Amino acid sequence: MIRIVSAKFLTSSVNSLDAPDFGISEVAFLGRSNVGKSSIINALTNHQGLAKSSSTPGKTQLINFFEVIFDNDGQKIPIIFVDLPGFGYAKVSKSLYSAWQKNLDEFLKNRINIKTFVHLVDSRHANLEKDENLGVYLNEFIRNDQKILNLYTKCDKLNQSERSKVLKMDSSAILVSSTKKTGIDKASETIYNSVFGL
Ligand code: GTP
Ligand code: MG
Repeated sequence: MIRIVSAKFLTSSVNSLDAPDFGISEVAFLGRSNVGKSSIINALTNHQGLAKSSSTPGKTQLINFFEVIFDNDGQKIPIIFVDLPGFGYAKVSKSLYSAWQKNLDEFLKNRINIKTFVHLVDSRHANLEKDENLGVYLNEFIRNDQKILNLYTKCDKLNQSERSKVLKMDSSAILVSSTKKTGIDKASETIYNSVFGL
């Protein structure tokens, strides 16, 4: 069985140049602002407040690194989780916004250690153009040792028929709720397996 046993904050970076190389495989959590990136890191690691979350979009402004220890049948394996600023958040000034997007773009394209991009999609709005664009964007530069994983967040807000609709659209969809802790074990096992190409 695969589960997460501990997690700790490592450091924050502004861009790819000042981000240290930890020599450990990384998982980058991506998605629109407010979709629940920081919250899912807290739910996966069972560590409230590890990644700062807020109901105000634009909470995460830096590239934040967390060391997460997985237990695979007694073997302890570290993986780095990377919490990122959301895209599509325009409440800050235009110049700050474009600086963020440039930093994010360079980081995603240059960061050798990223093995998995976890694309978080709000399960209530599962076919927004912004998310489609993110998928297209990632596919433009993804290497063959990298994977994209879609997680559908806030599924506690869906009824049964709305859940079925998401699964019909994406048969491999993983529905998660950070508040209700739904789908969290499945998500962590899927992330682990994708990092190691299993
Ligand atoms: P940025 O850092 O601004 O890009 O946002 P983020 O994607 O990190 O979102 P964050 O985790 O800060 O969560 C945004 C809001 O959504 C907060 O008010 C959370 O409490 C709420 N939220 C996150 N996950 C869930 C969930 O599973 N269910 C519900 N109902 N609310 C959630
Ligand atoms: Mg955040």
